[in-house]
Amino acid sequence: MGVVNDQSPDASATGGSPDSPDTTAAWWSDAVFYQIYPRSFSDSDGDGVGDLPGVVDKLGYLELLGVDALWISPVMRSPMADHGYDVSDPRDIDPLFGGIAALDALIEEAHARDIKVTMDLVPNHTSDRHPWFVEALAAAPGSRERERYIFRDGRGENGDEPPNNWPSIFGGPAWTRVTEPDGTPGQWYLHIFAAEQPDLNWENDEVFEDLATTLRFWLDRGVDGFRIDVAHGMAKPPGLPDMPEELQTGLLINDDDDPRFNNPGVHSIHRRIRAVMDEYPDAVTVGEIWVRDNTRFAEYVRPDELHLGFNFRLAEAEFTADSVRDAIENSLEAVDSVRGVPTWTLSNHDVEREVSRYAEGTTEAVGRDRARAMVLVELALPGAVFLYNGSELGMPNVDLPDSALQDPVWERSGHTNRGRDGCRIPVPWSGDTPPYGFSESPDTWLPMPEGWGGLTAEAQLEDVDSTLSLHRLAIELRRTRPEFAGEEVEWYGAPPGCLAFRRAEGRLVCALNTTDGPVGLPGGEVLLSSAPLVDGRLPANAAAWLV
Ligand code: NOJ
Repeated sequence: MGVVNDQSPDASATGGSPDSPDTTAAWWSDAVFYQIYPRSFSDSDGDGVGDLPGVVDKLGYLELLGVDALWISPVMRSPMADHGYDVSDPRDIDPLFGGIAALDALIEEAHARDIKVTMDLVPNHTSDRHPWFVEALAAAPGSRERERYIFRDGRGENGDEPPNNWPSIFGGPAWTRVTEPDGTPGQWYLHIFAAEQPDLNWENDEVFEDLATTLRFWLDRGVDGFRIDVAHGMAKPPGLPDMPEELQTGLLINDDDDPRFNNPGVHSIHRRIRAVMDEYPDAVTVGEIWVRDNTRFAEYVRPDELHLGFNFRLAEAEFTADSVRDAIENSLEAVDSVRGVPTWTLSNHDVEREVSRYAEGTTEAVGRDRARAMVLVELALPGAVFLYNGSELGMPNVDLPDSALQDPVWERSGHTNRGRDGCRIPVPWSGDTPPYGFSESPDTWLPMPEGWGGLTAEAQLEDVDSTLSLHRLAIELRRTRPEFAGEEVEWYGAPPGCLAFRRAEGRLVCALNTTDGPVGLPGGEVLLSSAPLVDGRLPANAAAWLV
């Protein structure tokens, strides 16, 4: 690729302090995790909503894809106000997803195929139908029942203004006033998300003890670890001060200065969680950490806290060489001081799918080319990779009509924010028309568009040039080739709009071309490219691996 110096890289990007423990031997240190959004993955019973037996049906596919572990978005009992992120019983599986026997079967069958199973855990809040919250509403202010949540008296005359000015991430205020058992207007409770998701009071020991019971409950059933929802949010600032007026947060926006998140008290919670996890030495936790500052991010993955933390920089990066390099350098730096394992993800159930993100200002086809290039970039990097279901098929976001929208954000924002449904459309498996083998029912929980026949797994499996085949091959090479060894990344000089890095130990080279024309490649044999080379050159919007 017209590299300035294709033999001597220009900088070393990782290091690590010598006295931290070696995390590189753990199974999760270079695993490919596959996120299943269960409602949208595979529906076995024809109710239009995906379920766990549906996941079991697709284990052969996942084995073929080559993933090491599953992360299953929440399947615990839930009234589904936020599609499972509102848990009413953390130690049971919702009947909608097949009940607890279905999880046991999934664990057994996944393990038989050497695939680990990790679950989403939602410790920041419960459902408003959780027995604890029901009890809290029935109890008096100041009672033990209320102390499990964050109840406060209101401000202003008669306490009819919320205790502080915090908005909910989903729109509207973060406080809802309750009616006391005697029928009078009463206290307010905090909910950073929807009103159906009251925040727990993590200063109350009972809250941690219950989580510890939940952790052991699932680990004893064979679960291999947890993705921890809002891992940067459980501790609230002392006194719950107002947010500064000048802090311009929007819905679903994360900001390092936001007092609702990333309070120092959160780290002792993670230490207590880790102490339980250490009873199960092979199990892993990965925290959802929307924190940009590298020093503060690193605190979450210190040796006695989370095993892994989601770093979202790559999912936020534009498709430019500078932006991608900046995301990679910062993601590496964010774990370097604690010798943590970096993580990489291009999308999940909360953000626009990468095909559509990269298509902005251009076509969906270009967006898909870029997504194919970026998956080679992330799979070339050291650390753990998280793929979101459907990204291996090149699924785009879908613009849904108002009447189809289900995300609570749509209602809570007063219909000003369309929410996240567009990235949660069911996965197309086969056939030429909706529901593409996802369900027996044409009435899928979110409608599937026409014209997706070419996107189905069936259509792509035998096609060597498909996005699915690219993923399969890339994952297999990553797992089997010695060139992927080592944790250090070295940068090469590259022409404007391009980047190239090398795994220092294994010496795999990854080159990315974000320009609109072909470029030369560094020397070496091409192992894989996201698009056919043009006269030996890497085309626009493409990446290649060289050895
Ligand atoms: C983060 C999850 O990823 C998101 O989907 C959910 O709505 C919130 N946490 C609240 O649990």
